[in-house]
Amino acid sequence: MESPFKPDILKGKVALLTGGGSGIGYEIAAQLGKHGASVAIMGRRKNVLDSAVSVLRFLGIQPDILKGKVALLTGGGSGIGYEIAAQLGKHGASVAIMGRRKNVLDSAVSVLRFLGIQASMLGIVTHQELLPNDTATTVHTHLDPTVQTLKSAIGLEGDVRKQDDAVRVLETTIKHFGKLDILVNAAAGNFLVPAENLSPNGFRTVMDIDSVGTFTMSREALQYLRKGGLGKDPSSGGIIINISATLHYTATWYQVHVSAAKAAVDSLTRSLALEWGTDYDIRVNGIAPGPIEDTTGYSKLAPEEARSKSRENDPLYKVGEKWDIAMAALYLASDAGKYINGTTLVVDGGLWLSKPRQLSKEAVKQLSRAVEKRSRDAPIGVPSSKL
Ligand SMILES: NC(=O)c1ccc[n+]([C@@H]2O[C@H](COP(=O)([O-])OP(=O)(O)OC[C@H]3O[C@@H](n4cnc5c(N)ncnc54)[C@H](OP(=O)(O)O)[C@@H]3O)[C@@H](O)[C@H]2O)c1
Repeated sequence: MESPFKPDILKGKVALLTGGGSGIGYEIAAQLGKHGASVAIMGRRKNVLDSAVSVLRFLGIQPDILKGKVALLTGGGSGIGYEIAAQLGKHGASVAIMGRRKNVLDSAVSVLRFLGIQASMLGIVTHQELLPNDTATTVHTHLDPTVQTLKSAIGLEGDVRKQDDAVRVLETTIKHFGKLDILVNAAAGNFLVPAENLSPNGFRTVMDIDSVGTFTMSREALQYLRKGGLGKDPSSGGIIINISATLHYTATWYQVHVSAAKAAVDSLTRSLALEWGTDYDIRVNGIAPGPIEDTTGYSKLAPEEARSKSRENDPLYKVGEKWDIAMAALYLASDAGKYINGTTLVVDGGLWLSKPRQLSKEAVKQLSRAVEKRSRDAPIGVPSSKL
């Protein structure tokens, strides 16, 4: 299996692996080494270490790890979804991005083309015209066969809340690229609101986009993603990646709707992984990002005015980059993640574990000594019973 990552991603790093002479430890050592790290392996048996060291081979990595794959991303026109589209595309996949706003899709496809992912735009409700020298023009869903020869990124207008749009976008993706290997459900709605001010309609809207939309897209994609689906291998199915969050792991102020919606998304991830992994060889996983800079989500859910306070209260507070999430998606989408199914990978720098620090380290040492002393000095009571 080939790694999805650049060959020198760990260049200059030094790694020490206990148990690195055999089994899983050895494979981790080999992969870190292949990606540029210097590795030291530790174990008790010299002969095992010697032979492990002698077989560590630093092989070249394929930058086109997703070559020949086709991905459809809801919410792929902006933010995290766009970055995932760009990274899947940079690693060889053809990408279709779906959203409601044509102008957002148009500019995303243009940038994808600028990045070297040859692009055309495909509007669901737009006019027909394929200009011979401009692959970035807008064409009708009834495809000109010449479009299909392009290895490209396409933009598809559609609303994940509408089943007809889901069907149409998927059909267009299949007509355009011939198959579907990867579905990324990144479309979401969000805004801050105290629970008592949230109307049932507002609640329902977010559930409709995040949870029902994820289900609708996944369900309509099943016939293409399943093993033996159109253009697919009879024995291996595709991959679904659901973009979630960590808000609902504990509870988050003013995000009752998003938290409920993402909890449902995580549940879908597990249930579909079980049912569709078993029956159709489809892997279904999620990614739960922490706060990611330069995104609409971050600016809406952690507006500037609220930030300094949250940083003080959260020792682990770090803002992630869209790239961090895209790398996790690349990992899950490639064969590097072939044994991962039903998991939601948290990519948040550990933030959701964060708790305010009650005491400094020095204070805790002193307190601990005092508590221990008090406990030692306390008289030993005579056990008694009320019975
Ligand atoms: N940003 C963060 O810090 C953060 C943290 C945790 C989780 N996340 C999750 O990461 C994902 C991306 O978030 P983001 O912050 O990058 O936000 P974003 O840029 O606003 O992305 C949301 C995308 O979804 C599309 N979309 C919304 N409603 C849709 C609908 N009904 N049908 C089709 N497409 C729809 C939007 O395009 P149109 O409006 O044109 O349809 C937009 O491109 C979301 O699932 C979000 O919950 C983000």
